[in-house]
Amino acid sequence: MDDFKDIIEEIKARNDISDIISSYIQLKPSGRNYKGLCPFHGEKTPSFHVNTSKQIYKCFGCGAGGDVISFIMDIENLDFMDALKFLAEKSGISINQNIDEKTRKKLEKIKKFQEINIEAARFFYSQLMKRDNDAFKYLIKRGLDEKIIKNFGLGYAPDAWDQLKNHLLSKKYTIEEIFECGLVSQNKNQTNYYDKFRNRVMFPIFDYKGNVIGFGGRVMDDSLPKYLNSPDSELFNKRMNLYGLNFARKHIGNDDKLILVEGYMDLISLYQFGIKNVVATLGTALTEDQAKLIKRYANNLILSYDSDQAGINASLRAIEILENAGLNARILNLGEYKDPDEYIRSKGVGNALSAIDSAVDSLQFKIDVLSKNYDLDDRKESMKFLQEAVKIIREIKSPVELNYYIEYLSKITYTNPDIIMSEFDKKTNSKINYNNKKVNTFKEKEVINIKKVSLAQDAQLYREINLIKFIMLSSKARAIVPLKIREEDFIYETSRIIYKTVLNTDIKGIIDINKIYNEKMDKDYLKKLDTISFSIDCNDINEIENIVNQFQKYTSKSKIEKLLEKQKRLEDRRKTIKEKTEEAKEVDLEIMKIALDIISENKKLKSL
Ligand code: UTP
Ligand code: MN
Repeated sequence: MDDFKDIIEEIKARNDISDIISSYIQLKPSGRNYKGLCPFHGEKTPSFHVNTSKQIYKCFGCGAGGDVISFIMDIENLDFMDALKFLAEKSGISINQNIDEKTRKKLEKIKKFQEINIEAARFFYSQLMKRDNDAFKYLIKRGLDEKIIKNFGLGYAPDAWDQLKNHLLSKKYTIEEIFECGLVSQNKNQTNYYDKFRNRVMFPIFDYKGNVIGFGGRVMDDSLPKYLNSPDSELFNKRMNLYGLNFARKHIGNDDKLILVEGYMDLISLYQFGIKNVVATLGTALTEDQAKLIKRYANNLILSYDSDQAGINASLRAIEILENAGLNARILNLGEYKDPDEYIRSKGVGNALSAIDSAVDSLQFKIDVLSKNYDLDDRKESMKFLQEAVKIIREIKSPVELNYYIEYLSKITYTNPDIIMSEFDKKTNSKINYNNKKVNTFKEKEVINIKKVSLAQDAQLYREINLIKFIMLSSKARAIVPLKIREEDFIYETSRIIYKTVLNTDIKGIIDINKIYNEKMDKDYLKKLDTISFSIDCNDINEIENIVNQFQKYTSKSKIEKLLEKQKRLEDRRKTIKEKTEEAKEVDLEIMKIALDIISENKKLKSL
């Protein structure tokens, strides 16, 4: 096998990727690399990139990507071995005699299995398309049309014991080969073989290139098992494959997104309605390999499992795996519908698309799942819920996001955010580790990732400290924030002092509190400031806008609250004053002014 690897490396070394690709499409230099129009999907502006130092290509339009060998496989429609041979010949290497016997046997076997599976798929398809059978009627009844049946190569395994077997034998495949592909089973005393799939609707399973590597067969009534699948073989590994990826990878849009469903029928339905960036697991829990496979094509994933308890549990497990693979996962809410197939057939594609757009992030999903176990109208229950919910939001590293969830929890439990904050602080307090000498120990790197999340007793104080810390870490924020936030917008004296100092210093990059320390700064404030960290890039313009926006919202809201209080106090006082006196006129004027301030503050809040 090592020999074989050497040969592959040799072939890659002798075939420069940009040379090979430019014999198919026009490549234009782009920096040190090249780009051009993707040969795998129609496009007018180039999103196909060739990286010469890494010797890889990647299309940001359709997700196609790989090395010189996979390029040849895709563009010439060759399997791995043939693509190797193709490149070998171009560069004058003869590979046939170099591959060791075992490797060659394995590769030949894989090729043979592919042929057998394609032949079986053709057989099932032709049986189905006789139309006069239960399977065809069943599929039509489920809303499929002939176009979609053809696209997915659906078929029918007749209600008989040896039709497929005889068909494949007539094509000169041996019974052992057919058996190894899992298309026939053996009887108990191993004297005879019979068709494994009988009287079932057949779903061919493709690999990402579109080769048939196995089948799923569905009964047409309620009998069990509902689906029978090809056993794993050298060709077919359920845990490594995703159904529909061969189609989906050509339909990944600019939003860099795939949808993951549980079932064959879910995927086919969505596809029929024009939602084509969908893949499905094959009746097994999502695996790490599958998550990695998804990540090769897209960074964003919409999880759309069944809405029952089993589906929710599976989603919770899948989320961990997806996020571990570095994917950004969001979860679709199917409401009262059982699965995506039912959803889109009942509510139509428009609703499905908006449901996809409004899919929630994993934290929101976890909190919503949790909240279903409690009666939030009951005070005791909702406090119990909050205790559990706080455990979930403790994972949050971004203060902006944390703010959002505190607000959200406050809204759904009718609880003051300060109470939630104090619940939040309770469990974490013991972890505060304040070191007087070294107040700030951040490295020069501006992207900082520390597990501890910010703590504060009071939501306002906490928000101010957050913002102050943020601008201390980010020189970009120091340029932008003062355009929107004034010193007076801070309530705490220490916030104002630091804000003023930080905006006037010429220290570049991260500002260490020790460098700007002065006596007037409050010690407790500084302790809290020290515990805050961000796992976001503080110089990212979106993050800066986010944090400024959040802060402005809160400032605006608390201003309005204060104005309302003041207004109320004045109105109370006004009641005690005699009409038409100087004093009455003054107070009326004051009340008017406050009313105007409230209006303008409200306007400001709405525009944020
Ligand atoms: P579902 O029962 O949700 O299937 O199982 P479905 O695709 O929605 O099927 P319909 O709508 O009832 O026809 C999800 C997936 O789990 C696998 C299949 O891959 C199925 O698509 N499965 C399910 C099995 O492998 N075996 C089974 O017995 C059941
Ligand atoms: Mn279903």
